[in-house]
Amino acid sequence: MYRLTAVTKRYAAADAVGSAEALSGVTLSVPRGGQLVVQGPSGGGKSTLLRLLGGLDRPTEGSVELDGTDLAALDDATLAAVRAEHIGFVPRRAHLLPALTARENVETALVPLGVRRAERRARAAGVLEWAGLGDRLRRVPAELTPAERQRVAIARAVVKRPKVLLADEPTGGLGRQDAAGVLALLEAARHVDARPGLVPTLVMVTHDSATARRAPRLAVLRRGRVELTEREDGDAANG
Ligand SMILES: Nc1ncnc2c1ncn2[C@@H]1O[C@H](COP(=O)(O)OP(=O)(O)OP(=O)(O)O)[C@@H](O)[C@H]1O
Ligand SMILES: [Mg+2]
Repeated sequence: MYRLTAVTKRYAAADAVGSAEALSGVTLSVPRGGQLVVQGPSGGGKSTLLRLLGGLDRPTEGSVELDGTDLAALDDATLAAVRAEHIGFVPRRAHLLPALTARENVETALVPLGVRRAERRARAAGVLEWAGLGDRLRRVPAELTPAERQRVAIARAVVKRPKVLLADEPTGGLGRQDAAGVLALLEAARHVDARPGLVPTLVMVTHDSATARRAPRLAVLRRGRVELTEREDGDAANG
């Protein structure tokens, strides 16, 4: 589970007048296998929160615990290893490597884990098929639609069977129907290919109101402060 305690993030201000506080004393937790939807106005701190959860950045103060380990206290190499093994990140735009095919892009997530080539290829192909891209394995990103690229990014995040899936506005820039498909795929990702008994925790920034209504936990971030709504029975209902 995630447990954030009094997390503050200050960025050095470009104008050197002071420092901007992107997160101010955020305390929240998400149970293992739970789901949190993050919303709020632009500049509220949503992406900052996701980067801290993903170990892509460190808090200025406070702790970000994942299953009892404070990510903020790990050295860079250990943090990189935790990211590679346990954290699947789906960015707003897919950020695929342009020279690699869809399958090779998905395989990149398995390279740091020491998975051998034949198994990498098989697992990448399997996850891409699950994502509805079974006939797109050999295409490079330029030959895919934005929605297909986003599906590849989800496959890349899922293929390592992470403890945690993080998605920062994964449907940004997609049309309504494509967006709905991508959100459905992310929710489905919590149920396939998980280690037995371990459904990944999902934290997602989205402006989609239907997704927010369904989520067992909703965090609204305004000026770095969090307002958390928890619905009873939420995660239990989602299995
Ligand atoms: N690398 C950075 N350096 C300095 N300030 C930053 C940096 N990243 C974010 N900020 C500032 O931190 C605050 C929160 O930004 P953040 O990107 O987390 O907001 P957001 O809720 O994701 O916004 P959006 O909806 O526009 O994506 C903003 O005031 C932003 O300008
Ligand atoms: Mg953002």
